[in-house]
Amino acid sequence: MLVVPLLLKRGDLAGRLAATQNNSLKGRALHSSIAFVGPGLCSAGPMAAAVRQQTTKGPRMPAKPELTADPTAQLAPATRLVHGGTLRSEFGETSEALYLTQGYVYDSAEQAEARFKNEEPGYQYSRFANPTVSMFEERVRLLEGAEACRATATGMAAVTAALMSYLSAGDHVVAARALFGSCRYVVEDLAPRFGVAATLIDGTDIKAWKAAVQPNTKAFFFETPANPTLDLVDIAAVSEIAKQTGALVFVDNVFATPMLQRPLELGADVVIYSATKHIDGQGRCLGGAVLCTQKFVDDYLSVFIRQTGPSMSPFNAWVLLKGLETLPIRVKAQCDNARRIADHLGQYPAVTRVLFPGLDDHPQAEIARRQMTGCGQIVTFVLKGGKEEAFRFLNALRIVRISNNLGDAKSLVTHPATTTHQRLKPEARAELGISDGMVRLSVGLEDADDLLRDLDQAISAVC
Ligand SMILES: Cc1ncc(COP(=O)(O)O)c(C=O)c1O
Repeated sequence: MLVVPLLLKRGDLAGRLAATQNNSLKGRALHSSIAFVGPGLCSAGPMAAAVRQQTTKGPRMPAKPELTADPTAQLAPATRLVHGGTLRSEFGETSEALYLTQGYVYDSAEQAEARFKNEEPGYQYSRFANPTVSMFEERVRLLEGAEACRATATGMAAVTAALMSYLSAGDHVVAARALFGSCRYVVEDLAPRFGVAATLIDGTDIKAWKAAVQPNTKAFFFETPANPTLDLVDIAAVSEIAKQTGALVFVDNVFATPMLQRPLELGADVVIYSATKHIDGQGRCLGGAVLCTQKFVDDYLSVFIRQTGPSMSPFNAWVLLKGLETLPIRVKAQCDNARRIADHLGQYPAVTRVLFPGLDDHPQAEIARRQMTGCGQIVTFVLKGGKEEAFRFLNALRIVRISNNLGDAKSLVTHPATTTHQRLKPEARAELGISDGMVRLSVGLEDADDLLRDLDQAISAVC
């Protein structure tokens, strides 16, 4: 095995993080193709060889250590999100390099054979792995405190890859009914076509999880807060039931963001993100991530991604890496704005209900306090009347834009009944509490006073 100093310099923060994560990184060497063999060393793939070739011809500009802190010091999430996972080349670039390449060349036919036999670490093809995507995966992994992370092209690719790589014909899934429409399609329509049965329950009812378990139940799946009603599921309680039954717990953590809720610490096994949302947060790229154990990657996910191809594009990984750097400050500012709006909306006679996990009258306010460190940036509310009043309100907004997306710097408003949850039958929507007067507001980074004035004038158009 070729071992070269130094994609990660000794003393470099990434090297320090690599050192603390040495065991799991060693385990991941063949998927990521960068084998961390100790602090500051990595056995490099063709990318490193190319860099070496270039730098031996021209002036060498070794990278400077980024931090000189005690390597054993605990690094806070904000620090990890700026530096974590960086594979700095010998050119010493400040910003992460974008390796916009489909494939990789080999020094010899023997090397190509060794790579395909997994006898030598190194990149082969960007459907399997790519250095920029590896940086994204490592940064999200460090944030989440997971053993492993695999990136995908979209959030739905992450949901589908996580569930469908793991489940087989004859298995059974228990899922919360309050799921994003496409997630419901995966468990309700797609999985049964391949012999995987699903039972949909009220996820807020702990007894319902227990009651739905069958001898062949292999997975529990839910999102919390749920889209768009912001129902909360007690992650620790559901995980406890799963442990007794041998099922794995899959949590779609999109609405909470990695900043506000840590499902793995509460007992979940697999955490899924649409990176399209807060991780990008600026409306540019689609992406997804699955956080899990190394065993889950080795046994299920890796081969599924490699052979079926829901892989993240290196360009998107690069944009999303930059998104991660500012995630904590964006989410905090959005949550502060959302709190002001949730408090404000209650005063209007035209608003019959405000749903926000931070309000005392939220049905699971106690769970929010226990399992979330912030209440999120989505505020859902119900306008008196129905579709006509809701449409009048949406059309009157001037700063807040109509969109089905969320987590963006721009405040976005959605009418779930006619867009994201339109696919559901009216009875199914009624069961979830999605009325025609319901509006979902994804609060952005604008000045809160401007947003409040915009909401005020649009609500007065409804009254
Ligand atoms: C809760 C939830 N999960 C998954 C997804 C899917 O993400 P993507 O659009 O990146 O495929 C969405 C998208 O809105 C979502 O809201």
